[in-house]
Amino acid sequence: MKLQGSTMPDFNSIEFVNDSLKLVNQTLLPFEEEYIVTDSYERIADAIRRLEVRGAPAIGVAAAYGVALAFKNSAKDDVLFKKVYTTLAETRPTAVNLFFALDRMKKIYENLSGNNVYEELLGEAKKIHNEDIEMCDAMAKNGLEIFKEKSVVLTHCNTGALATGGAGTALAVIKYAYENGMVEFVYADETRPLLQGSRLTAFELEKAGIPFSINVDSAAAFIIKNKKVNLIITGADRIAANGDSANKIGTYSLAVLAKHHGIPFYIAAPSSTIDKSCPTGEEIVIEERSKREVTEIKGVPVTKDSYNVFAPAFDVTPAELIAGIITEEKLFKFPYKF
Ligand code: MRU
Repeated sequence: MKLQGSTMPDFNSIEFVNDSLKLVNQTLLPFEEEYIVTDSYERIADAIRRLEVRGAPAIGVAAAYGVALAFKNSAKDDVLFKKVYTTLAETRPTAVNLFFALDRMKKIYENLSGNNVYEELLGEAKKIHNEDIEMCDAMAKNGLEIFKEKSVVLTHCNTGALATGGAGTALAVIKYAYENGMVEFVYADETRPLLQGSRLTAFELEKAGIPFSINVDSAAAFIIKNKKVNLIITGADRIAANGDSANKIGTYSLAVLAKHHGIPFYIAAPSSTIDKSCPTGEEIVIEERSKREVTEIKGVPVTKDSYNVFAPAFDVTPAELIAGIITEEKLFKFPYKF
């Protein structure tokens, strides 16, 4: 078969322009395409915390630029570096890409070859960004082999250009497969509570021209049973050395559903998401978000503020429920050895 299609993003959600970082404000999508343009690492840290920029690889890329920008007008300054590193590292705990990027920036800072700190740090941030674009491209192509027939696909959260520095993880795989005639329809879970599916994945599927519908997360079982879903594919925020994978809350239940219904559940993630220092999913720190993200929608209360809320942002899918993990290198199969 002659392969066709583009693995390039439909738009740039992260750009470095005029010595500033330009980020599309994801909290306003799909209604407004508004950009945050900043050269402040503190503003970038805020953007990560507020999910104005989100998705594991995108967080890493933004943080790397944040470190570089902190030294735009500064010489080597260890106190400043420590403050910048800590501020960015404390934004979100689960996506390992953040720490992968920060540690790479730290290595450059600790081994500066000249006096232009900013240029050296910026060079590394651009490298991290470019590598992410290339990894997305390779993942999309490697993912084609999971499609055995023209497929109906179900996905969760947002994993396209918005979530990465390039074309995406799971959504790039879906898009490339669609362009090669292997995707018929996509069901996108809305992804409560912050609606990354119904706001962001829908926006990206629309841009890519892929037929889709959005559904409440709790409709997944019904859809899998009645709509002939062939496979489920999501991204990941941290993959442990044994393949246990943390991703947006609700992913684990999809993997259990996939097993019950005899369909494969796949993950697509770059190697920057694999944390070999983390033996199993048990050691992955799961972020808990503010109760207001559950009790309110866009600032409007939907229940009593006085109620207790438990709001984990991620869950961990055990490796044995994952049929394959697509990286830029290849499609890994259980038992996972990266
Ligand atoms: O809380 P978010 O929106 O940052 O969570 C994002 C996800 O869970 C994605 O599925 C994950 O980062 C992989 S996508 C590239």
